[in-house]
Amino acid sequence: MLDDLIERAGIGDGRGLVDLACGTGEVALALQPRFRDVWAVDQEPEMIEVGREKAAAAAAEDVHWSVGRAEDFAATPGSVDLVTVGSAFHRLDRPLIARRAMEWLAPGRCLAIINSNSLWNGSTHWQELAVGVIRRWIGDERARIRVPDGAPAARHQEVMEQAGYGEVAEYDFPTPHTWTLDEVVGYVYSTSVAARRVLGDAVEPFEADLRRTLLGYEPSGRYPEVVHFDYILGRRPDA
Ligand SMILES: C[S@@+](CC[C@H](N)C(=O)[O-])C[C@H]1O[C@@H](n2cnc3c(N)ncnc32)[C@H](O)[C@@H]1O
Repeated sequence: MLDDLIERAGIGDGRGLVDLACGTGEVALALQPRFRDVWAVDQEPEMIEVGREKAAAAAAEDVHWSVGRAEDFAATPGSVDLVTVGSAFHRLDRPLIARRAMEWLAPGRCLAIINSNSLWNGSTHWQELAVGVIRRWIGDERARIRVPDGAPAARHQEVMEQAGYGEVAEYDFPTPHTWTLDEVVGYVYSTSVAARRVLGDAVEPFEADLRRTLLGYEPSGRYPEVVHFDYILGRRPDA
């Protein structure tokens, strides 16, 4: 998917990449060899710390890590060849970020919103069962994925079009994947909704319930799905 993105975005010898809400640098580090300079920004110091460690292990020296809100980041106008946001656009002030990214991008360059489906909108029965267990232990209200302002969300494409991007389109990469039971449990703990600290004292009975429920449905301990990775690309107009 990222190769496709690079090609469609017309990145040859890329100058600057800005990866907002970069987490541990999944996107920034994968794309780093294609760019001279990479700015990777996240509001969580621990995420940036892990990103730095991964970069050091990969000898990726041209990544500039910073802790801060994406909304407060600044880049030189017209200096950037690609702005990416991986699995986080819904958490940001989308219209503001789309406008700012447009200023940083050189004419004809792109903003890419990268996503994948999650447990919550998966279409397999084992995913529904897992979400049911989470709801049982943390409550319906908290188990909902929230949009920051609580309002019905405009589609990401609309936000990008309203900010003036052209050629806005989504590219989908369905990818079969089979999870082990341990991976499902680890994934659930990695979410903000069902993190260990959210579950508190209920961690152990919750995990026992999750394992029992999934093994009751599929005793092999292997859980297949088709993951839908996608990116939405919008281009800053030339003139
Ligand atoms: C699901 S993770 C995605 C991380 C990474 N982009 C990836 O694709 O693996 C969401 C990230 O968004 C970050 N985040 C949420 N709101 C943010 C904001 N306003 N500014 C910067 N980072 C933010 C969180 O700290 C978290 O690391």
